[in-house]
Amino acid sequence: MRTRICGSGSALPKLEVTNDDLSKIMDTSDEWIKSRTGICSRHLATDETLSSLAADAALQALEEAGIAPEELDMILAATLSADRLLPTLSCELQQRLGAGKAVAFDINAACSGFLFALQTADVYIKSGQYQKILVVGGEILSKLMDWEDRSTCVLFGDGAGAAVVCPDETFGILSSVQGSDGARGEVLSCENRKNNNPYVTNSTKPSYVSMDGQEVYKFAVRTVPKAILEAVERAGLTVDEIDVFLLHQANIRIITSVSKRLGVPLEKFPTNLENCGNISAGSVPILLDHVNRRGMLKKGDKVVLAGFGAGLTWGASVLTW
Ligand code: COA
Repeated sequence: MRTRICGSGSALPKLEVTNDDLSKIMDTSDEWIKSRTGICSRHLATDETLSSLAADAALQALEEAGIAPEELDMILAATLSADRLLPTLSCELQQRLGAGKAVAFDINAACSGFLFALQTADVYIKSGQYQKILVVGGEILSKLMDWEDRSTCVLFGDGAGAAVVCPDETFGILSSVQGSDGARGEVLSCENRKNNNPYVTNSTKPSYVSMDGQEVYKFAVRTVPKAILEAVERAGLTVDEIDVFLLHQANIRIITSVSKRLGVPLEKFPTNLENCGNISAGSVPILLDHVNRRGMLKKGDKVVLAGFGAGLTWGASVLTW
């Protein structure tokens, strides 16, 4: 039995902010951002919430899959920026969708979150415990950015993507690889609330995402090709047999380096980071949906999905579409 993606969806906030727009409010330029990252614009949430974006994406995925919300057995939401600490994004989604039967919980593996959630859904489906699972990845990262730190805030964006997965005899996930290295976690981090009770004194200043960009870059270009190769080998395939590589959309230079290290033409790596930026757990499912809706995936195509990011964490899956 395999786990097949039978529907996808995505939603971006309506406000699109270009590099030139940013250069009017901070000391940056379109040339700097584009040449180092490939990003030209990103969408930022104003009156949208993460659960409203995730619900839009989920409804599209359910429609394509031909599945009603009430039929869902499970909702897995990958995010590091849920609207609230409690209830979880997945439970908010359950309520918005009217998916009363589903068990719902969140997974936080930062930019690898969607991969880890999809791989979790795969295990549940293969075990026979659940059949119809909604997997969502989404972020409103703009609220976690220090808008006075031009080295991070220009890189990220907001949005949500969704996939509905079901058991299938033939098509679906062939293999998966996951990894974590908590020892290197400090290179990309964001503090939660500090201890706060009558017995501690603390400063309650908010904390923002901080990143050692060059260390993250080195981690990504070394780890992602290895993870992809391992997943492809486990699937009994070679990289030449893969039709499409859908990578976490952090930086075009990372994607170019991965394509070179794998010896695969860059044309097999579609991107949307140009107009989305890095949406962490939202990145892979949004790209998957964009590619799916453009008709770029044919039945039987071999597809690699790969995520990497804070933790540090990384994950790759190989599937037949
Ligand atoms: N606009 C203009 N200048 C900027 C800037 C901005 N938005 N952000 C930083 N700079 C400046 C720096 O202050 C520095 O100036 P200095 O040399 O006078 O000190 C200069 O640009 C170079 O910075 P540097 O950090 O060396 O640039 P870089 O070539 O390493 O590129 C990143 C920076 C962040 C684009 C790059 O390291 C990267 O992409 N890393 C991976 C990050 C990532 O993908 N993270 C998410 C993974 S999930």
